[in-house]
Amino acid sequence: THYWAVVPAAGVGKRMQADRPKQYLLLAGKPVLEQTLIRLLSANIFSQIAVAITPGDPYWPELAIVNDTRIITAPGGTERADSVLSGLNALADKASDQDWVFVHDAARPCLTAMDIYLLRDELANEPVGGILALPSHDTLKQVDARSIMQTIDRNTIWRALTPQMFRYGLLKQALTETAGNPAITDEASALELLGYTPKIVAGRPDNIKITRPEDLALAAFFLEQQAL
Ligand code: CTP
Ligand code: MG
Repeated sequence: THYWAVVPAAGVGKRMQADRPKQYLLLAGKPVLEQTLIRLLSANIFSQIAVAITPGDPYWPELAIVNDTRIITAPGGTERADSVLSGLNALADKASDQDWVFVHDAARPCLTAMDIYLLRDELANEPVGGILALPSHDTLKQVDARSIMQTIDRNTIWRALTPQMFRYGLLKQALTETAGNPAITDEASALELLGYTPKIVAGRPDNIKITRPEDLALAAFFLEQQAL
């Protein structure tokens, strides 16, 4: 069994409101995407990492890491799911259906090798795969307009993170069959739609997605803490 990785890095970062896509903003001295790839490479389990980037992206060639032979690129698509499928297709001539593929957001630079090993080991014997996720600590309300309809049992609600690890063949099939469906916001949701039940593995709260400006400072803090 081989392990592959796909990194969707073709977003525009609208909510970040910066002068460039957020994956190219500096974090602890390096572009966010470079930090993310360094961490994936440091796990030392991936045969190849396919990074989906916007065609003509002027920032990608500037990264210090682009000549690493373990990294290839694929053209990003309109939605995140399109970018992921493009990355999967770029691995098609090497990957087998039963191989594992980790999909990890470019915008999550604080992942640890420990989390990668945890996902790999916890789900090693699963037929489908699963995701890192976090329990909800806040009390959860179901709301209609601005009125609370009910309180949801928070023990049943988890927040999806990445990496998400699935069998290569199944994930490609699921994303191909659900292409264009706006409800597919992560890999697990594509498999759920096909009737599969992906597993949950508890991740770390510092594995944040950089989404808004304040997240950069938070990520810098987490990277500093992890280095201690
Ligand atoms: N992504 C992608 N292709 C797209 C859209 C998103 O590869 N068409 C990637 C982003 O680069 C990011 C990850 O998917 O690494 C998670 O998406 P998100 O946090 O929503 O990033 P953006 O879409 O860039 O941000 P925004 O939604 O604020 O515009
Ligand atoms: Mg987005």
